[in-house]
Parts: sequence; structure tokens; C-alpha cells
Amino acid sequence: MSQKKRVFSLLACLMSVLVLPCCLYSAESDNALAGSQSLVIRFSHTVANETAKGQMALKFKEILEKSSQNRIRVEVSPNGEMFNDDQIAESLLLDYVQMAAPSASKLTEYIKQLKLFDLPFIFKDMKAVDAFEQSDAGQGILDSFTQRGLYGLGYLHNGMKQLSANKALKVPADAKGLKFRIMNSDILEAQFHAVGATTRDAPFSQVYSLIAGGALDGQENTWSNILTKDLYKVQPYITESNHGVLDYVVITSVAFWDNLQDDEKTLVREALKEAIAYGNSIASQKDEEAKQKIVQSKQAELISLSKDQRDQWIAAMRPVWKKYETEIGKELIEKAVNSN
Ligand code: SIN
Repeated sequence: MSQKKRVFSLLACLMSVLVLPCCLYSAESDNALAGSQSLVIRFSHTVANETAKGQMALKFKEILEKSSQNRIRVEVSPNGEMFNDDQIAESLLLDYVQMAAPSASKLTEYIKQLKLFDLPFIFKDMKAVDAFEQSDAGQGILDSFTQRGLYGLGYLHNGMKQLSANKALKVPADAKGLKFRIMNSDILEAQFHAVGATTRDAPFSQVYSLIAGGALDGQENTWSNILTKDLYKVQPYITESNHGVLDYVVITSVAFWDNLQDDEKTLVREALKEAIAYGNSIASQKDEEAKQKIVQSKQAELISLSKDQRDQWIAAMRPVWKKYETEIGKELIEKAVNSN
């Protein structure tokens, strides 16, 4: 974590303790269901509206505004227009936003066990990811958010990550010396170091321009993010590696949540349950459609790996698990593996 981020985090924690309880309900958001004014929930995220997460956020808005008869309003801010994901936890703690769904990778500074999701090749597909998330172990990770002043309200799917680059990546040696964009996660850094590549941690909103400008050679992401951010237009090769998972945790702050009235909590919880189920039901289909659109565009070449080539990536990246075994917990890793 950079010095700047540390200072910001520290300030955020102090603010959450000292200031937040006084400023939770502004004139605009004064307790909704009792009075005439609306409670406003700002939902900030970094992806396009047409992705599964974007659609889930809009669905949440639609359901909640209807069920509360507009006494609770949801302002959805997509594409990192309000905050980048690396500022999101602090923004929640400071009550600038009240709900977000950052990737697990971007929350690993807060909840160490989330590092599990970044281990390369730990889940074979999204079915296994879902099984783990719904297990006691997965739900236990959500429970641990309260230690950090946050509530983990649920998991939301995106999909499996693919590798893209300005050269064809067939075997690990092809990645040697290339610079890849990563989300802020030391495991993702270690994963690329394992194949002789370097990394740069950057917000999602900057990935396209950093690649187009030549500051980066490659990146990893899901098909839907590669499509909706036009990354396939600046990355001539995409390797269908399915080497990792990009999933989200829907979060709010304890301070915000605890200040809601019981009936408000019920409405929010119900709307969220339905919206998450909707987002999760369309995620795989969105990802597959995005892949097909990219292939049809012919702007990037799709590289499918042979079994032998894929085994080489696994052999090169798997040692990262050992390095993080103690920090994440051997038992938790085993439970994730057993979800496959
Ligand atoms: C997201 O899907 O929310 C962004 C992922 C990324 O930063 O690559």
C-alpha cells in the first residue's frame, strides 16, 4: 500500500469513528420511512451499465424504489465516475457512498482471506466459485467484514479471467518481460512475477489508456470487462486461460447500516437479494456473449490453449499458493479446492 493510500485509510478510519455518526443522515437522507424526505443510497461501481454488475445495480434501484414507494432512492454511479475501486472502502467509511461492489481482489487489504480468490487456478469454473461462496467458509468471510467497519452483504459474479497482451501468450515463457496491469493485490503481483513478468497496479478506468499509450503490454480480465472497456481493440491477442476469478462483494458500512430503521433494512435486504440473484443469473451469459462479440469483431485473436500449454501455466503459477498458505489459511484453501 502506498504512503498516500495509508494516510487516506487512516484519515478514513478516524473520520468513521469521529464524524460519521453525526453526518449519516443529511437533510436529503433524513430517515426516509418516518418522514417525507427520501433516504438516498449512492451505489458506486467501476464497470459499464450493460455488465452483470451494472445491471444488478440498476435492478436494485428499480426494486427498492418501487418497494419503498420512492421513500428510498438509489443513485447508481457506473464506470468509476464517482470513485475508483481502490478508494471505495474509504468512501463507504466516510459515507460518501453507501453501497458498492468492488472485486474481492480490491478488498484484500481489508480482509486477508479474500486473497483466496486471487490464487491462480484455484477454481475450475464459476460453478465451483459459487459453491464455495455459498458454503459456510464463504459466508464466514462475509461475516468478517464487520471487524473493518463494513458489512459484506453478498457475493456477486462476474466470471473467469482471461489474459490479453500485445503478443500471443501460449506458454508462460511468452509473458516473460511483459508488463501487466493488475488490481491492487499482492497475489496478482506474485502470479505475474511467477512467469517472469512485471506489473502495474492501476484503476480499471485507466487500463484502456495505459495500454493504448504503450505503458502496459497486457492485462487480465473477464470477457465482459474486455468487451465493455474496448480492451480488445488495443490488445491484439487474448488467451482463453480461465486462470483466475473476478467476483465481487456487495458492501456497505456498519455505521450506515446500523442507522437504518428495521423496516428500511428489510426493504434493502430484500431488494438486494433479488438484485444479486438477477445479476448472478445473467453473469455467465453476459460473459459468453462478450466473448462471441470479441471473436466476431476480428480485432483480437483468440488463443485457445492445449492441455499441455495450460498445464505449463498451472505449473508456473501454482507455487504462489504455497507463499500465501499461512496468511490465507491452509484449511480455507482446501475448502475452496473441494468446491471444484
Ligand atoms: C470490475 O469488474 O469491477 C473492475 C475489474 C478491474 O478492475 O479489472
